[in-house]
This record gives sequence, C-alpha cells and structure tokens, in this order.
Amino acid sequence: MLSLWIKGRSSVIPVAHKLYYLYHLINLQESILVETMNSAEKPFLQAIRGEPTAHVPFWLMRQAGRYLPEYRAVRSQARGFLDLCFNPALAAEVTLQPIRRFGMDAAIIFSDILVVPFALGQELCFQEGEGPKLEPIRTVSELQTLSNTLDLERLAPVYAALALVKAQLPPETALIGFAGAPWTLATYVVEGGSSRDFKTVKSWAESDPDGFQLLIDRLTDAVIIHLVHQIEAGAEVVQLFDSWASALDGAAYDRWVVEPAKRIVAGVRQHYPEAPIIGFPRGVGRRAVAYAQQTGIDMISVDNSLPLHEIRDLLKPVVGVQGNLDPAILVEGGAALENAVKDIVDALGGPRFIFNLGHGVVPQTPVAHVEQLAAVLRA
Ligand code: CP3
Repeated sequence: MLSLWIKGRSSVIPVAHKLYYLYHLINLQESILVETMNSAEKPFLQAIRGEPTAHVPFWLMRQAGRYLPEYRAVRSQARGFLDLCFNPALAAEVTLQPIRRFGMDAAIIFSDILVVPFALGQELCFQEGEGPKLEPIRTVSELQTLSNTLDLERLAPVYAALALVKAQLPPETALIGFAGAPWTLATYVVEGGSSRDFKTVKSWAESDPDGFQLLIDRLTDAVIIHLVHQIEAGAEVVQLFDSWASALDGAAYDRWVVEPAKRIVAGVRQHYPEAPIIGFPRGVGRRAVAYAQQTGIDMISVDNSLPLHEIRDLLKPVVGVQGNLDPAILVEGGAALENAVKDIVDALGGPRFIFNLGHGVVPQTPVAHVEQLAAVLRA
C-alpha cells in the first residue's frame, strides 16, 4: 500500500518530496505501532481481557476529590461543582491529579452522573454541603418538560475533557468514561436530589409502571448516547453506576435495574462491539450474579454486600470482578488496611481482577493511606 501510494504519485512529486512523504508515513506507521503496543500493555485492559498482568491493576472510585489538596485548590478556582465539570481544562486537570500522585492504572473522567438529566433539560444545581438539587419530575405530564434528545452542546465539554486527558495520560494508563444507570438517575430526577427512602420514586414505579417506564426509557436512550460519545472522545472502558440498585428487589429489580443495563450494554455494543463495560449494581449481594449473566457486562464492580468467598465462588466464574475494599478501611490505614488488601488480593487476584473500593473515596481519607495502598499493591 505504502509503495503504491508513493508510486501512484511519482509523476507529479519530486524525489525530495517523495522521501519527505515516506519519512512521515513511516513515522505515522511507527506511532500507530507504538499506540497498539501501548494499549496492549495497559494492565487495566489486559486484566479485563483475562490476560496476565505484571501487577494487580487498581483505581479508586472518586479518586479525584476533596481528600486531595490539589483538588480543593482547583475546585476553589471554579465557581461551583458543575462549572468544574464543564470546564474541559480544569476537569482534565483534576482527572489527572490522582494519577500523578499515586499512579493508578486507570483514570476516570471527572464529571458527574447528573450531567445526563441536565442535558435532557432538567434544572440542576449543587449547593455547597447539601448535594444536588433538581426540579423534580414526578408524573408523565411533568416528563414532557424533559427533552426527547440529549443536548450534546451541554455535554461537549465532557467529551473535550476526555480528549485532553487522553492526550496527557501515561501510555500505560487506561481512561474510563461513565454514566449513572437509569434507576439511580431516576431517583434524583424524581426525588429532586439525594434521598434516604426513595419514597416518591418507588411510589411512581409501583402505582404507574407504564408511565415510569417512559422515564426509564428516556434515560436509557440518553445514557447509551452519552457513553458512545465518551468512547468516541477517547474512553477505553465505560462504567455504569447503579448506586441505588439495592433499593429494589424482585420483579422491580429486574425491570428497573437489570433490563435497562442490558439495553445499555447492547446499545453501546451496537456502536463499539469491543468496548469493555463495567457494571456497578451497588449493594445487591448475590443478585449481582444474575445481573452479570443477564446484562452481558465484562466486569462487575462489587461492594461489601457479599463476603469475599462468595465473590470468588459465585461471581468470578461468570464475570470479571472489580473491588471491594471498604472505604472506611482506607480512612483507618495501618495494619487494618494492609491486611484487608491482602485478603482481597488472595481471594480474588489473578486474571480478570481489578482492585478498587466498594464505593467512593470519602473526603476525610488521609492521602498517606492511599499512598500506602498503592505501595502494598505494587509490592
Ligand atoms: O470517581 C471519580 O473520581 C470521578 C468523578 C465522579 C463524581 N461523581 C465526582 C463528584 C463520579 C464517577 C461520580 C458519580 C456519581 N455522582 C454517583 C455515582 C457513584 C456514587 O458515589 O454512588 C452519584 C450518586 C453522584 C451524584 C452526586 N454527585 C452526589 C449525590 C453528590 C454530592 C455528594 C458529595 O459527595 O458531595 C455529588 C457531588 C460530587 N461528584 C463530588 C465529586 C468529586 C463532590 C463535589 C465537590 O467537590 O464539592
């Protein structure tokens, strides 16, 4: 191909120019080769594919955040949390901060699950110390206030931030995109913010399942589009956060947690058949097994709702596993941390395992304990 290309233009291109083109083509081919080699050598991606890795790959949910002084410094430059999420340069910077400090095997783009309802037109703000506030949608007629399609202009800064991070990441580090799962998003959309009992959203789902299905469908379609755009922008893996999956059980769990996840996996794979997908149905215990089998995800992120031996015996035979250190043990540090990490790696280590927390890093986590964790895993 290369020689044909040069030959084909031989009549019009002087020899010096030909050499110049040749030089650039070889360079291009080399950089493509280097790129392929690099991605083949990312331990995070190797683990997902079931290949052996030189060390236990790890990253931490909420690895960028208030426990890091450099995050707080950048955060104080932005007006609010959403301004930080939608400023590509600042979002890229805080995404890279934990990688520079601790050398995690993957970076997760700094954003939030609530950018999806926001890009469907729902009012959203984050009040200092109070978490998110949304203009609640509680009926089919209120659903008409939401757009049918995602406003990609609102989300463009997220994709720009992904591209900026991709260009700056060390070659051995993978890049993760993410979205909230429809049920978890619906809890915020309907309750208008964080909730303890999910009373309003559950009562809509129970009293008018067909109407509630319209909301879930709208969110499902939007999540697929958002994940596909993140992959287009450079994400190599995507994670679906269903943080409140444990609020449902029985048929409601199947309908609002498993079914939408299955549709999202199929929808993303229609565009990117090879894209690895991590599912995180938090707190569901043994129901994680059916979730993995029915949705077709590549990896499951697990918390502490299943003991290690059950994760090993029930989950690992059917799906790759990510997890599951209790974030409170990372706050504690010392021997407790070292022992817990060893127990997890002893039980779950080997192919198709990624070390993570069972939930996000909490703000009071000492930086030194994250350093300790990285050192134990690399030892
Ligand atoms: O993991 C990462 O480092 C990437 C960034 C990320 C954030 N939120 C940043 C964030 C991710 C993956 C999320 C996901 C998210 N957001 C979830 C699912 C995961 C989970 O924690 O269960 C949920 C439920 C949300 C919604 C949300 N965002 C809430 C309820 C809050 C307020 C509570 C809090 O911790 O402050 C947020 C704010 C938020 N999202 C912060 C960060 C770093 C804190 C904002 C700040 O800096 O003041």
